[in-house]
This record gives sequence, C-alpha cells and structure tokens, in this order.
Amino acid sequence: MQVIETVSEFRVAERSAARPLGLVPTMGYLHEGHMSLARRARADNATVSASIFVNPTQFAPNEDLAAYPRDMDGDLAKLEEAGVDLVFAPAPQEVYPAGFDTRVEVGEIAAKLEGASRPGHFRGVTTVVCKLLTIVRPDKVYFGQKDAQQCLVIKRLNADLNLGAEVVVIPTIRDSDGLALSSRNAYLRDGDRESALTLSRSLNLAREMHQSEILNAKKISAQMRNLIESEPRTSVDYISISDAETLDELDIIDRPALVSLAVRIGDVRLIDNTLLP
Ligand code: PAF
Repeated sequence: MQVIETVSEFRVAERSAARPLGLVPTMGYLHEGHMSLARRARADNATVSASIFVNPTQFAPNEDLAAYPRDMDGDLAKLEEAGVDLVFAPAPQEVYPAGFDTRVEVGEIAAKLEGASRPGHFRGVTTVVCKLLTIVRPDKVYFGQKDAQQCLVIKRLNADLNLGAEVVVIPTIRDSDGLALSSRNAYLRDGDRESALTLSRSLNLAREMHQSEILNAKKISAQMRNLIESEPRTSVDYISISDAETLDELDIIDRPALVSLAVRIGDVRLIDNTLLP
C-alpha cells in the first residue's frame, strides 16, 4: 500500500494504476461502515484508493473540526488489511494552498435538511469531493447511505460537472443495538447510548407505521419525536419525510420516501435515515 501526501505524486501513481480504479473518500477514524465501502471497492476494481482528509471547509466555525477524532496509524493498518492500494492523505495546505479561492456549490438539493441546519457544510463537501475526483480520477467512488443527502448532492455534482465517476452507495452499517456507525459516536458520554438509540428506534417505528399503512407524514414524525424526546438529553434538530429523490417534504407518503433525522444528544449531533419503499 502506497501512502501519498501530495497531488503531484498521486497523479503519477494514478497514471500507472490498473483500471478500473475505485475511490473511498473519508475523513479518517475509520469504522466498519468505511471498511464496508473499502471491501466493496476492492471487489469491484483493479486498483483501490482511499483518501483520509479531515476537510476544514465543511465544518462551521462553531463545529467540531479541532476535536474531530483522528487515528492515522490505525486507519492505515485497517486500509492495508482491506487490500487498499493507494492512500491519499494530504495536509490541509496541499488541498487548500495559499490563494485558494474557488468554491463548488450544488443548488436546491444541498439547501435542505443538513444544508439548512449546517449552512456552508455542503459547499465544503462538494468543493473537496470535486477536487478529490479530479485528482484521483476514479471510475467508481463509494459513499455510505448513512449520509443519504450527501449521496444525492454528490450524484448531482458528478452529473452536472461531468466528473465521470460512477457514484456507488452502500447500505448503512449498524452496531448490534441498531446505532448507525459514525466517527462522531466516539463523542457519546457513558449513559448517552440509550438516548442515541432513539434515532434508529424512531426510524423502525416509522417503518412499522408505514407498513401498517399509515401514510400521513405528520402523524409518523410526531410519533418519532415523542419516542426521541422520551429519553434524556435529546433534542431534535429535524425529522423529515421527503421524496427520496428530490428531498421535497411529503404530506402523504405516496412515493418512495426518505425518513431522515438529526438529533442532539447533549452536544453530540447524530444523523440517521431509512428509505420507505
Ligand atoms: O462523508 C465524509 O466523510 C465526508 O463528507 C467526505 C465525503 C469524505 C468529504 O470530506
């Protein structure tokens, strides 16, 4: 496995890489969710690359950039074990050198949900993903369904700018108790786990209600909110039931829908989602 820190060296490696070339973009502190992307990339491609870059531009000034968990040695060991060939691990000044002054911004789909709660977040994501796709030039790029809106935003970016990668979305990986894996789970204090489980439990409730033919979105989201707020230290940022493609809010679930939510447990903000057929 080759670990590369500069754009120029990565370009050299990419030119001689056997195709197809897969890319797993990450911010490090890798868990089984990331590893499922890496394994799928390994199965699909002749060369597998991964990036490790905690992208400062997708964090607002009041967010957790400085505290974001990091473990470069552990991450490299996991990627090596998964059979990754190339790791791109640039320093911030390699990605954003002095004078950097370009932003890549997707419109409507990036303005809702996470975009509304975290202004500027997706502009940072799409700017860095656009750079990663042009540096790495992958045939396929892998993302987790846990960040459902991010997947839709990146599909839009990739199509609109003809970036030429196939965007592959892999199902969310959960702990045995249902909690969706996330690097931010590391912030949960002892005793907050039960509260954090309200995310997946409320999504299960939404699925059950939908299966029993309750199609009124407000009714479902009200029950989800009750369940979440019954646990201490929880505060709902949003609960959304939207068209699975456009993310337009639904009153009646009369088409494939995405149920998504963001909840604070103390000061830890977690997201999760499920698709309703
Ligand atoms: O999902 C993530 O970890 C990040 O948003 C990504 C796609 C690596 C961009 O920094």
